[in-house]
Amino acid sequence: MKRSFHHLLVTGGAGFIGSHFIRYVLTKTDFTGKIVNLDKLTYAGNPLNLSDIERHFSDRYELVRGDIADLELVRHLIQTKQIDCVINFAAESHVDRSIDGPSDFIQTNVVGTFTLLEAVRETQESKRPIHFHHVSTDEVFGSLGPDGFFKESTPYDPKSPYSATKAASDHLVRAWAHTYGLSVTLSNCSNNYGPFHFPEKLIPLTITRMMEGKPIPIYGDGQNIRDWLYVEDHAEAIWLVITQGRMGESYNVGGHNERNNLELVRALCYTMASHTQTEPESYLKLITFVKDRPGHDRRYAIDPTKIETELGWKARHSLEEGLDLTVRWYLNNQDWLESVKSGSYRDWVRHHYTT
Ligand code: NAD
Ligand code: DAU
Repeated sequence: MKRSFHHLLVTGGAGFIGSHFIRYVLTKTDFTGKIVNLDKLTYAGNPLNLSDIERHFSDRYELVRGDIADLELVRHLIQTKQIDCVINFAAESHVDRSIDGPSDFIQTNVVGTFTLLEAVRETQESKRPIHFHHVSTDEVFGSLGPDGFFKESTPYDPKSPYSATKAASDHLVRAWAHTYGLSVTLSNCSNNYGPFHFPEKLIPLTITRMMEGKPIPIYGDGQNIRDWLYVEDHAEAIWLVITQGRMGESYNVGGHNERNNLELVRALCYTMASHTQTEPESYLKLITFVKDRPGHDRRYAIDPTKIETELGWKARHSLEEGLDLTVRWYLNNQDWLESVKSGSYRDWVRHHYTT
């Protein structure tokens, strides 16, 4: 049976994936209610990511600046905005930052998720139906060898402070469903990429460095493998799981797009060269091997059979198509990039890379 909702509380909706999800729900689904976006607007949250939505959906979209760990605020929003579904994207999301300073990750990813669950539990105990969807990551499963895939049944084995906090939050969601009977669904997705991606992550960082003519840092030997998914495909998958996924279940989301980091960065160099009508060599020569990330997971790869067979989801974009759209978007949206670069991106690059 298809679930339908009146009003959604999306947390972390000013970030990369959350902003695509809000745009997707408002422009591409039959949802007719309102969306409240609760976002703390950390360095990763940018209201500009949804300026088109603010313009065109001012009666159905509202941004509230606040913390998911603020129980009073969350309670207030759920009650006054008549929320019947909470979708939790809010998180500290960057592995390197979690290694430099894990504290914010514990606070937002663990305590924040706990707070949302408590507010949802109170609502349900007052006999008002409410659903909770938790957006998680494939990193909770740890690191694969050369063979095999992450399935929903793969045991959790997180290896970084980031993934440990995401695993903890997944466990909390399942425990609250099991113990208090909360209506929940979860999704664990592979690496996303696309427009509005903060340029600390490999793909937007590589594009930015090519545009600046600066070295492109590749950690270790460049042979670590990630499984890439265009962000709009993830937004569609999440909506399907929320509205049609089985209660209490988690779904792995991925598009069969495994590449090692060196291959991926080289592909980006060729894509950029085709857009700027330049020799690929002018970008390829920027590739620079740097010190590895501590505890760097070797390989992630998703088996999406469950979401494909149960819900009929399939990634719509090939990696080549997605990279092309992404590079084109960054070239055409340098204002967005400049606004991001003027803030914490500059400090981050200074801290991590000498040039
Ligand atoms: P992001 O870092 O781009 O955005 C996170 C958003 O959360 C930002 O807008 C930030 O301001 C907000 N936020 C942070 N702390 C908050 C708090 N305490 N209260 C309210 N808002 C807060 O992250 P993303 O890449 O869009 O990831 C979104 C979710 O998807 C995360 O839960 C992440 O673990 C998960 N995920 C990400 C990927 C990926 O490849 N990026 C893949 C799988 C799963
Ligand atoms: O798998 C899903 C996860 O993907 C999400 O849960 C995380 O929120 C998201 O940040 C992402 O994590 P990764 O650590 O895989 O993404 P990142 O873009 O930081 O790195 C991708 C790969 O590229 C990884 O093997 C590390 C490497 N890398 C990264 C950076 C920033 C480099 O070689 N050089 C770099 O400068």
